[in-house]
Amino acid sequence: MSTPVTAPARAPEGTRRLLAATAGDLAAHLARSGPVPWRGRAGSLIEDVRAAGLTGRGGGAFPVWRKLSTVHGGREPVVVANAAEGEPLSSKDDTLLRRTPHLVLDGLHLAAEAVGSREAYLYVPDGPGRDAVEAALRERVARRWDPVPVTVVRAAEAFLAGEESAVVAAIDGRPALPRFRTEVVARSGVKGRPTLVQNAETLAHLAQLARYGPAWFRSVGTREEPGTFLATVSGPVASPGVYEVPLGIPMSALLAEAGGPVAELRAVLAGGYHGGWVPAAGVPDVPVSRAALARLGGTPGAGVIRPLAAGECGLRAAAGIVRYLAEQGARQCGPCLNGLPRLSATMTALAGGEPDPALPERLRALSALVDGRGACHHPDGVARFVRSTLATFQPDVVAHLRGSCVEERCLEERCVERRNR
Ligand SMILES: Cc1cc2nc3c(=O)[nH]c(=O)nc-3n(C[C@H](O)[C@H](O)[C@H](O)COP(=O)(O)O)c2cc1C
Ligand code: SF4
Repeated sequence: MSTPVTAPARAPEGTRRLLAATAGDLAAHLARSGPVPWRGRAGSLIEDVRAAGLTGRGGGAFPVWRKLSTVHGGREPVVVANAAEGEPLSSKDDTLLRRTPHLVLDGLHLAAEAVGSREAYLYVPDGPGRDAVEAALRERVARRWDPVPVTVVRAAEAFLAGEESAVVAAIDGRPALPRFRTEVVARSGVKGRPTLVQNAETLAHLAQLARYGPAWFRSVGTREEPGTFLATVSGPVASPGVYEVPLGIPMSALLAEAGGPVAELRAVLAGGYHGGWVPAAGVPDVPVSRAALARLGGTPGAGVIRPLAAGECGLRAAAGIVRYLAEQGARQCGPCLNGLPRLSATMTALAGGEPDPALPERLRALSALVDGRGACHHPDGVARFVRSTLATFQPDVVAHLRGSCVEERCLEERCVERRNR
């Protein structure tokens, strides 16, 4: 590995940390962010990661130091950057790879060093993000810059493709579907070896905190949930896009980053298709953090924020999402095979105005039935979303059971659908 001499860079100030590191080629990246702070000894970064309180940004918010500790010391460990980004409303990993591919690669190599790995993978779908990171890799290989080889593996564009056991299956050359496991991937993953799977954004944070230290990392965010995260904001806002903000930011401030709502809002979907709704009344104040959104039955997930405008029926929006999630289920185990299609059919019936008073209770019962019963967390995410929909759009539920709706447009759309049948 060659070690070009560069001056150490100043730590980014404010809350744009990953996006502030935007740089095209390796020279620009090193000029902006400084050299990679190699530790020279496996395990030595783990204490810093623990002190920083970095958690995974791929949806589960698991403490990164714990996974590093589990994989470290295992036989022939493997590291994987997960940039599958299966969530349809998310584009933060692709944005990150396009804007600062070297930062993600620095993080991947630091993770490899931390666990003592000689084998690294980057799991990414076709597209501009993949093109950018492949160009960055070619540059690094030509300069013999990296300590371990990185293999790029194509991720399928499917909701489940980024679940970690599906990631392992794809790297092992099998279909990218979640698997039943007796052992966690951190103990037995790629080729049965201990495997560290981290989201691409998590690795970029790792690279920054290795450079600037845990105190810098903790200087924004909340005490329990430090640091920044990348939020993908879409829907009725002035400037949809990817924004970097501190954990715990009030929802209204996050929407303001995206230019603010361009319509009166009914609710905001936080955490994407596996997340939950924040009712409009709660939008201004609710902090976007795991702890605050959990109280509303939601989660920041992978940072997806999607407002719903007044005039849109919450039940119809939700039915479309549940239908998609049921179709994406791998149908390998009970909840996906039976539960999710039934949840979808029941939600569609409620959204369509079927006047059956048993529908809400059936949705609750089916959600309880699938929750925690799959080999992966997909059914849990669907159950959470359905519960949140029922709680947030209770007035819509009552109106739909009476053959009406609180939103005029919903009635018009249903009329058109009936005519077209
Ligand atoms: C259904 C499902 C889909 C997932 N999709 C992704 C994904 O596209 N990208 C990702 O990084 N993590 C995804 N995850 C989370 C991964 O299983 C895993 O926890 C994550 O990649 C670990 O990285 P992190 O700890 O850095 O977040 C998904 C999880 C589930 C249950
Ligand atoms: S719960 Fe669904 S997605 Fe998860 S492993 Fe079972 S069949 Fe596959």
